Amino acid sequence: MNNLLCSAVLISVILILTDAGCLTYPNITDANFDKDCNGNVVITCYEGFKMVQELECVEEEWKYQNPICKRTECRYKFTNVTGLRPYSHKGSLVSDSAECDENCAKDTRCSTSAMTGGTLCGSYETPIIFVSFDGNEDRCIEKCNEMSECKTIGTEMDFFCVLFNVTLDKIPVIMKQTYSSDHIVAEKICE
Ligand SMILES: *[C@@H]1O[C@H](CO)[C@@H](O)[C@H](O)[C@H]1NC(C)=O
Ligand SMILES: *[C@@H]1O[C@H](CO)[C@@H](O)[C@H](O)[C@H]1NC(C)=O
Ligand SMILES: *[C@@H]1O[C@H](CO)[C@@H](O)[C@H](O)[C@H]1NC(C)=O
Repeated sequence: MNNLLCSAVLISVILILTDAGCLTYPNITDANFDKDCNGNVVITCYEGFKMVQELECVEEEWKYQNPICKRTECRYKFTNVTGLRPYSHKGSLVSDSAECDENCAKDTRCSTSAMTGGTLCGSYETPIIFVSFDGNEDRCIEKCNEMSECKTIGTEMDFFCVLFNVTLDKIPVIMKQTYSSDHIVAEKICE
């Protein structure tokens, strides 16, 4: 029988092993192995990975293959309904970017900071998680790919890149601005 015609893929977040007779863990890379309070082994894929298990028809019977943790793939859904902006709740004069970072570390509202030009330091709060005054779309998307918590990006050409840890509908109005063709706004969709 042709295996390709009768194989299926199961997708789940965790795999729980209850078989106490197994002395070794299955060989799954990119996963954490933990024991829950009942002594069950709980296998969870690392962040950015999802568990995929294949079911295969072998000699007319369905057999589970070993699960694997597969890297999730992200794409970007662009929108032109609004522009986004790196709204800063506080600005201060500093001598360098290290001092700017220190100020942010001392401010509980501050999630990230950036030099906004010269000696001016901007402090930002969530859902903003990253700001840079670099309007390059590719670098902004690359940064969002590196940050698993990044859900929405906003750029203004040759001006800034701002990243948020929430979807577009959850971004406060104060962090939005009228859309213009210089803006790139996109939500990250990972599956
Ligand atoms: C575990 O799986 C990986 C990749 O499938 C393989 O390279 C490695 O040799 C395996 N390790 C063991 C102990 O079987
Ligand atoms: C927004 O995008 C839609 C669909 O891509 C397009 O029809 C529309 O003209 C755009 N609006 C603006 C203001 O660019
Ligand atoms: C965004 O990040 C902040 C600070 O880490 C956190 O408190 C908040 O829950 C995050 N929001 C989401 C939707 O992850």
